Amino acid sequence: MVAIAESDPKRCKEASDMYKVTRSYTDFRELLDQPDIDAVTIALPNYLHAPVAIEALRARKHVLLEKPMATSAKEAAKIIETAKKMKRTLMVAQHFRFDRHTQIAKDFIERGQLGEIYHARAFWLRRSGIPRIGSWFTQKKFAGGGCTVDLGVHLVDTCLHLFGDFDVRSVSGHVYSKLGPKGVGSFEWGKSDINPQKPFDVDDYSVALLKMRKGTTISLEISWAAYQPSIAREYGVDLMGTLGGLSLFPARLFRDGPAGYETVELAPSKLAHQEDPIHHFVNCTLHGKKPLVALEESLKVQQVLDAIYASASSGKEILIK
Ligand SMILES: NC(=O)c1ccc[n+]([C@@H]2O[C@H](COP(=O)([O-])OP(=O)(O)OC[C@H]3O[C@@H](n4cnc5c(N)ncnc54)[C@H](O)[C@@H]3O)[C@@H](O)[C@H]2O)c1
Repeated sequence: MVAIAESDPKRCKEASDMYKVTRSYTDFRELLDQPDIDAVTIALPNYLHAPVAIEALRARKHVLLEKPMATSAKEAAKIIETAKKMKRTLMVAQHFRFDRHTQIAKDFIERGQLGEIYHARAFWLRRSGIPRIGSWFTQKKFAGGGCTVDLGVHLVDTCLHLFGDFDVRSVSGHVYSKLGPKGVGSFEWGKSDINPQKPFDVDDYSVALLKMRKGTTISLEISWAAYQPSIAREYGVDLMGTLGGLSLFPARLFRDGPAGYETVELAPSKLAHQEDPIHHFVNCTLHGKKPLVALEESLKVQQVLDAIYASASSGKEILIK
């Protein structure tokens, strides 16, 4: 890392000191004007992902973009179009794909160990984990949505990646906004700042059912905050197969063994992808390789997120083209 752009001068200095970076800018365009900078990683509030990524690509920078890719599929498509036009590497930093447990699961599935996978159950259930009530995170115009885009994006991407199938046919969803608007549900119970003036117009709980074109299904349940039991596994994905089941996180296999139903802890083995998303992106950029997170896949994930909200507001099942 050679430079940082951060509009808040105090945070800019903190970050520059932390990473020992000598070049810092409070205007990101100044950074984009630097001819010796080849690539940028964009970790800005969601509503800035599309405009800043498009400017960066037009300035001939390769772009690693934080999730969610954008605040709508329309914006995501524009970013992709610009990357293709400018012939730059673009990747969304879906870091779950690089998790060793996801990689073990993918490997098992590709070797046919689960048989035919017919359903995935994915969940992320925080009891009290709304990020900064009143900040950009809790305002639709800045975040694009609440827990569904913030946490659900990881679940949708992981399930479709494990299925090896992004061909979603339809989405039914429902979203709720029950605790956040009351100022309740921020990171720790008891420390919530009960202040109804803090803007909150996004979802803090959601459910969805995705149907794939080939007939398999994915169910999602996501909360930033809810009155619910504490569970050991706050987030995970459970895959149902005809020969066995597999769950994340951690990676475990369920199947019939000689002594009956058995659970196998899948110890990390030699992995196909040993890199983290940043090194992977840099290597792809340097060597002209296709990133693990393909652009068409990220676009489909964004379409699914849009469809969950469209289904929630219309009360209908949304067909995906
Ligand atoms: N991959 C993950 O699991 C993961 C984890 C955390 C955050 N994120 C994503 O990263 C992004 C940022 O999240 P965060 O928690 O760091 O948010 P944050 O609000 O803590 O940080 C955003 C920073 O952007 C700065 N900023 C705002 N406008 C700017 C501009 N025009 N130019 C330069 N700087 C500007 C703000 O001053 C702030 O310091 C989000 O999209 C979030 O979804 C991803």
